[in-house]
Amino acid sequence: MVEISSSELTLEEKAALTSGADFWTTKSIERVGLPSIMVSDGPHGLRKQAGASDHLGLSGSVPATCFPPAVALASSWDPELVARVGAAIAVEAAIEDVAVVLGPGVNIKRSPLCGRNFEYYSEDPLLAGVLGAAWVRGAQSHGVGTSLKHFAANNQETDRMRCSSDVDMRPLRELYLRAFERVVKQAHPWTVMCSYNKINGVYASENRWLLTQVLRDEWGFDGLVVSDWGAVNDRVKGLAAGMDLEMPGSGGRTDTQLVDAVRAGRLDEAALDKAAQRVINLVAKAQERPHVAGPLDVDAHHRLARSVAAHSIVLLKNDGALLPLARSARVAVIGEFAKKPRYQGAGSSLINPTRLNNALDEIRALSRGEVLYAPGYSLDGSGDSEELLTGAAAAATRADVAIVFLGLPPEDESEGYDRTSIDLPAGQLAVLEAVRAANQNTVVVLSNGGVVALPFRDDVAAIVEGWLLGQAGGGAIADVLYGVVNPSGKLAETIPLRLKDNPTYGNFPGELGHVRYGEGVLVGYRWYDARGLEVAYPFGHGLSYTAFEYSDISAELSGDEICVHVTVSNTGKRAGREVVQAYVGLAKSRVTRAPRELKAFAGVVLQPGETRRVELTIPRCDLAYWDVRADRWVVEGGAYRIDVGASSRDIRGGAWVDVKGDAVVLPLNHNSSVGDVLDHPIAGPLVREQVSQFLAGSHMDSAGASMMANEEAARKMIGDFPIGRIVSFPGMPVTIERVDELIAYANAQLDSAQQVTQATQ
Ligand code: BGC
Repeated sequence: MVEISSSELTLEEKAALTSGADFWTTKSIERVGLPSIMVSDGPHGLRKQAGASDHLGLSGSVPATCFPPAVALASSWDPELVARVGAAIAVEAAIEDVAVVLGPGVNIKRSPLCGRNFEYYSEDPLLAGVLGAAWVRGAQSHGVGTSLKHFAANNQETDRMRCSSDVDMRPLRELYLRAFERVVKQAHPWTVMCSYNKINGVYASENRWLLTQVLRDEWGFDGLVVSDWGAVNDRVKGLAAGMDLEMPGSGGRTDTQLVDAVRAGRLDEAALDKAAQRVINLVAKAQERPHVAGPLDVDAHHRLARSVAAHSIVLLKNDGALLPLARSARVAVIGEFAKKPRYQGAGSSLINPTRLNNALDEIRALSRGEVLYAPGYSLDGSGDSEELLTGAAAAATRADVAIVFLGLPPEDESEGYDRTSIDLPAGQLAVLEAVRAANQNTVVVLSNGGVVALPFRDDVAAIVEGWLLGQAGGGAIADVLYGVVNPSGKLAETIPLRLKDNPTYGNFPGELGHVRYGEGVLVGYRWYDARGLEVAYPFGHGLSYTAFEYSDISAELSGDEICVHVTVSNTGKRAGREVVQAYVGLAKSRVTRAPRELKAFAGVVLQPGETRRVELTIPRCDLAYWDVRADRWVVEGGAYRIDVGASSRDIRGGAWVDVKGDAVVLPLNHNSSVGDVLDHPIAGPLVREQVSQFLAGSHMDSAGASMMANEEAARKMIGDFPIGRIVSFPGMPVTIERVDELIAYANAQLDSAQQVTQATQ
């Protein structure tokens, strides 16, 4: 166990310690016995580079299990499963002596075009946060650290190292920071990785508000902040803001800048002490990890990867119960992806898999009937031909069922750039068209890291969303097609009808160094619901080979929690897992809100005929919105609607819960409005009394008097009027001195604990 204080180090040593020795390791300081540790990507497997290093997945890495990337994993809506993946990756890291795995990524999928959506969980912060926390818990329970990334508002790849994400405080707090907040508070990641981009004009890597005020002071983070690889713009500014470790190292160049800044009095040495101590603490934690002897049980992890992948698949459509397939069915497997799977995305998360299976072989292994195969198209479209197309149609004609594998070519989505459309390649759609014409029993299996448009969704019998499923994805697809596994995945993001319907359309990826988050809090399903737009498949949707009935839904506030209960029955003939979802809405709100927001979910496994009472808990504080006037979370009072369902648009019932709101009493000043005064617990009653006294002896004309006598009418007309200016209007029976007296008296009656300070932003 390392017990070293940064005060034992020289200025030069402290500066050196707060940047990497190279691409993947921290520096050792032999004089005090401090060893170096290694970090590696992340997040859906271990990318330990033993030789040449890079952050784009170009050079090789040691073989490791490639688990399903976050896009698939999130569709499991299963924190326990996600924790098992985190734990398995940690075991692999421990065997390889890697101290910290660089993940998970909990950035919100703001636009379906983001090239890195495959590495992120969801368009919803609750789902992303719960799953991210599970991953961190799983990994860290094995003594391996994690790096929660990319903090924050890094929701695109275009110009990612410079672009400013211009986002208002409500969406920033309620959506873009919320998943990070949950993971930090609930799972305590050892490190947080700051992102490349700017937030409202300030680089994340030198953003004191983000890295110190919010992350440490508000959320209580006590770990280390590491830069994304190359995210440091100004090391001195960054360190002062709370960015502890620069990665990769700069070969000493920026260490010297720190030393010079301290000597010149431009940087407080105490800030450097803190950062160096955090590196020491990280190394110390890593040293505590129990030794894990190899070799890796490759087969066991491959089996886990297969099971996780199968539970991540989303059955979008299954008309006439075409699936699962009978083992004896004669099937035509069509599409190059069935043979050459697309199972992970490109960039820094690229894993060198220990095994790789493909759907065609695995279908052949499970089938007892004839399995025909036709490639149909070429992976990059360059070899598409009439011959391939007619070959596919011919195979489909001869089969009971045609299974068409469609997907995005690898070069369509990657870290480093964004997509420009959500369309599948035209050549692939033409093949599907020909197959469909030849055989009505057509099943589409999709391989994609970001959502794709599904213009054929009404014309095929079944659609299986396979996302990117990792090295055992081929087997997992076969398991689902043949019912070895009953699918239970649900969409963690909306599949829109058209790109144009997406809330970021026109505001993505921005221009001239800025991207404006103009849709505010209405991201993903929040937007489609608010606008009443039709979608291809809604957030939370996913079918099963069995059916679930919901009944007896109730919700009640008990202490600081809303307890929701629902009875769920498996009315079909197979065992299955259902994910029960609870959404909350507040129709009459002082702020813009989505009609419903996910606030809780729970998975329940039911045998055929089995019934269970499911409980979901919604902490009262999760109802809060970010009040920009008070600069804090506020629970608004009112009648909240709790909707319970199988997806965001398959609501099976609900209940109302009355919630008492938090008082927001802002100190009064000249710019407080008439409405603010009337709402003020001290000033309001005083003013009402004064008004009625005045009206009793007034000679005011009848229109003015009747308006003053009717508070509702008065609020409508002059509710927004600043009280400091009202005195200048002719006939107003109040002087500025009386206004000042009222302000002073009202503010003095409430102590500071009862009043919230006015936000400065
Ligand atoms: C990515 C990070 C990754 C790092 C190291 C960066 O390009 O944004 O997610 O952890 O490289 O490879």
